[in-house]
Amino acid sequence: MSSGPDQAAIQLGRPSPPAIEIAGLSHWYGEGKMRRQVLEGVDLSIASGEVVLLTGPSGCGKTTLLTLVGALRQVQAGQVKVFGQELAGSSRAERQQLRRSIGMIFQGHNLLRCLSAEQNVQMGADLLPGLSSRARRDQAREWLRAVGLGDQLHKLPHDLSGGQKQRVAIARALATHPRLLLADEPTAALDSRTGRDVVVLLHGLAKEQGCGVLMVTHDPRILDLADRVLRMEDGRVVDTASADSVTAGALAATEAGSN
Ligand SMILES: Nc1ncnc2c1ncn2[C@@H]1O[C@H](COP(=O)(O)OP(=O)(O)O)[C@@H](O)[C@H]1O
Ligand SMILES: [Mg+2]
Repeated sequence: MSSGPDQAAIQLGRPSPPAIEIAGLSHWYGEGKMRRQVLEGVDLSIASGEVVLLTGPSGCGKTTLLTLVGALRQVQAGQVKVFGQELAGSSRAERQQLRRSIGMIFQGHNLLRCLSAEQNVQMGADLLPGLSSRARRDQAREWLRAVGLGDQLHKLPHDLSGGQKQRVAIARALATHPRLLLADEPTAALDSRTGRDVVVLLHGLAKEQGCGVLMVTHDPRILDLADRVLRMEDGRVVDTASADSVTAGALAATEAGSN
C-alpha cells in the first residue's frame, strides 16, 4: 500500500535489511553495588518474513531483549538495528517513529478499560494514515473476527476473560500493519486450540506480508510453526537449534509428564 523503505529497496534492486540485527548486546539494571548484568553479548539476526521463537527459563533476559528491540529502552552496550536503523544512540523521536512500524504484544494486555474491544483495536488502526474512520472500524472488526472474537466487539475488557483480552491485544497489534511483531508469551492465557490458531495467524502474517516475528514462548505445541527456535540462558543465546529438533525434545519432555 504505502511505499516504505523496503519497497524502495526492492524497486532499486537492493536487498532489504534484516528486520532485526543485534551484535554484542549487553544490558544492566541498577546502579553501583546493585548493578546487575542481565544480557551478555547477544548476537541475533532475524530476516523479514521469518518467525523466530525464543525460549528460556524465567529471569534469563527474554523480556529485556524484546523491550530493547521494541525501542522501549535505551541500548547501553552493543548494536541493535531494526530495519537497518541503529537504535544505540538514537533519539527519543527516532525511537518513537520506529515504534510505529512495530507491533508489540506484551503481558498485561494494556487495554484501555473504558473502551470496547472494537475501540481498543481501532486505536491500532488509528496510527495508519489515510484511512476513514469507517475503514478503521471495519478493519478492527476483521482482526477481531480473525482472532475469534467477532461476537465480542462491544464488550469492555472488564467483561472479557484473560484469554479474550489477550486476543484483543493481539488484534490491536495486527491492526497497525506492523513490519515487525514482538510478542511476549502471547499464548500463555489461551487454551491450546486458540493458542495455536493465533500463532497460525501470526505465521500467515509473516509469510504473506514479510513481517518478521520474534516471539517468547514456553508453549511446546507451537514450536513447529517456527522457522527457528532460540534458547536463552543467563543473558545469552546459547544455541540455535532447528525447530524440528527442539520440537521433538519439547514434545518428549511434555509426554514425560512435565508441564
Ligand atoms: N526494570 C527492572 N529493574 C531491575 N531488574 C529488572 C527489571 N526488569 C527485569 N529485571 C531483572 O532482570 C532479569 C531479566 O528479566 P527479564 O528480562 O524480565 O527475564 P525473562 O523475561 O526471561 O523472565 C531478572 O533477574 C529480572 O528480575
Ligand atoms: Mg519475561
